[in-house]
Amino acid sequence: MSTTLVSNSDLIMPAIVYGTAWKEDRTADLVELALKKGFRGIDTACQPKHYNEPGVGEGIQRAMKNGLSREDLFIQTKFTGVPGQDPSNIPYDPSLPVSEQVKESFQMSLENLGVEFIDSLVLHGPLPDWKDTLAVWKAMEDIAKTNQVGQLGISNCYDPDMLQELLDQSDVIPSVLQNRFVEETGYGVDVRSICRDQGIVFQCFWTLTANPHILSSGPVKDASRDHGVTPAQVFFRFLNQMEIQILTGTTSELHMSQDLAIFEFELNGSQMEQIQALGPF
Ligand SMILES: NC(=O)c1ccc[n+]([C@@H]2O[C@H](COP(=O)([O-])OP(=O)(O)OC[C@H]3O[C@@H](n4cnc5c(N)ncnc54)[C@H](OP(=O)(O)O)[C@@H]3O)[C@@H](O)[C@H]2O)c1
Repeated sequence: MSTTLVSNSDLIMPAIVYGTAWKEDRTADLVELALKKGFRGIDTACQPKHYNEPGVGEGIQRAMKNGLSREDLFIQTKFTGVPGQDPSNIPYDPSLPVSEQVKESFQMSLENLGVEFIDSLVLHGPLPDWKDTLAVWKAMEDIAKTNQVGQLGISNCYDPDMLQELLDQSDVIPSVLQNRFVEETGYGVDVRSICRDQGIVFQCFWTLTANPHILSSGPVKDASRDHGVTPAQVFFRFLNQMEIQILTGTTSELHMSQDLAIFEFELNGSQMEQIQALGPF
């Protein structure tokens, strides 16, 4: 099973991506460590409330000084609308029209990350007004057309009709959908079906924290014993074999190694079926 996934924009992406939320002052060190351990994908956002994007940039620059080249890396960042920002720390002028907010935010991301190209630019979530959502998407399309971005994506889009509407009204369709992987949303079976049809790669988060019942289930524990790995590794490998792109924001060096080691074993058909039955996955 491949350690990479290919989206509908033909971009080759790492199958597991290091997430950088909530790391504050530790961000640069953890990003540097993750890249040293072998991660090649980084997910961040221009949203100071939850992400230290300049710290991510510092970690990336340190790794590049130590031998990685820009082409080795998949860098994904997000535009976050005003409702998702801390009102006292918005990284663009919120009085501007949303299309201009997108441009300012994107320039800020380039500066924060110290790069000239973003592999994947993601809308952090639909805005309360669909007209604004569409205006943001059109501004993201304009950036994509300047070749400063490899592909576009959307996050926190749980309504299949909304995803379909975006597809219908886009010139540049999303290449990734980044959503919580939780029971409450039926594990996104409906939006993932659209993703499959359109070549959109589904990226999951909250995967471990929201699913302790899956991690402690019989099929996951059995597979964990059979392969000599942890339940978290089994679940990540299961999702990988389902061609779901995994986000992990671990702060532990051991967990980084374990997360990267999921490609060293393979779940057989019966193990996949048994875990599948715990879903709807
Ligand atoms: N688009 C959005 O709105 C959104 C929202 C949330 C997150 N995200 C993205 O997704 C990334 C991941 O966030 P997350 O919410 O899924 O949680 P996470 O930051 O990955 O943390 C999940 C928990 O899993 C643990 N963990 C990780 N690998 C493990 C392993 N192999 N074995 C056991 N425990 C392990 C971590 O503990 P240790 O630190 O001790 O390993 C942590 O307590 C974020 O950094 C961000 O990039 C996006």
